[in-house]
Amino acid sequence: MNDIKTGSETKETAVEIKDLRMSYGKKLIQENINFQVAKGSIFIIMGGSGCGKSTLLKHMIGLLPPAAGQVLYGETDYWAAEVEKQDEIRRHFGVLFQGSALFSTLTLTENVTMPMKLNGDAKKSDAERRDRAHELLDMVSLSHAKDLLPNEISGGMKKRAALARALALDPEFLFLDEPSAGLDPISSRKLDDLILELRDRTRATVLVVTHELPSLFAIGDDGIFLDAQSKQPIARGAPKALLETCEHPFVQAFLNREVPDGDESNE
Ligand SMILES: Nc1ncnc2c1ncn2[C@@H]1O[C@H](COP(=O)(O)OP(=O)(O)O)[C@@H](O)[C@H]1O
Ligand SMILES: [Mg+2]
Repeated sequence: MNDIKTGSETKETAVEIKDLRMSYGKKLIQENINFQVAKGSIFIIMGGSGCGKSTLLKHMIGLLPPAAGQVLYGETDYWAAEVEKQDEIRRHFGVLFQGSALFSTLTLTENVTMPMKLNGDAKKSDAERRDRAHELLDMVSLSHAKDLLPNEISGGMKKRAALARALALDPEFLFLDEPSAGLDPISSRKLDDLILELRDRTRATVLVVTHELPSLFAIGDDGIFLDAQSKQPIARGAPKALLETCEHPFVQAFLNREVPDGDESNE
């Protein structure tokens, strides 16, 4: 097991990326990606539009195989592992994709029970699944909306419902792709508080793609900055530390943007 030294503490590594190269066919997206994520930390993937942040998440959650390099969960190189082992690793993932995509014809309760059903949580009865879904909806302050359909609730509530669904299988890893995109600043801050609270409560390791400055400074313990021009990472560290110490002009420009006071839609 690898260890990461942060000050006097030594933390266990939850996932490590080694010499990763990502491409779509012949089109190189990023290379020379190397980082470790400490267990229970919130790790931010930063960089401009189109640099490969979502692509990196896809390599980490088992959706896209690397052109070269490794994604290591514990001792296991995910992409070199047997299918059964890959399935087992993926069972510990909770994912919130860009857009959050709830099933529009299902109530929030039914949306949250869906992963439990799909993943053959056969030991649980329907009533037990429903109780667990209600607990999770309560955790994200949506008890009052449990029987509503997605089109009957606000954007912020949809994100929280999608987060509850991502937590349905008690994940060890939570992958969030632009969770606060399209939210107003207040809903976005509430979502940040919720992510911090969930991390503390569930001890999950959280990987977040975000452009939102208040958000990445508020929740990021660590991070990496991917550069679209050189097609490789140009900075590593906590967003706050990078703001103070990183001299790269792209990183400074990114972290010193005016904080938008309205709805900034991404991509
Ligand atoms: N399925 C795909 N096939 C080919 N190119 C893609 C595909 N998905 C994304 N890309 C390209 O890869 C680059 C990185 O995309 P993405 O990871 O979505 O960026 P980000 O999330 O940082 O905005 C972009 O130039 C995008 O157009
Ligand atoms: Mg993206």
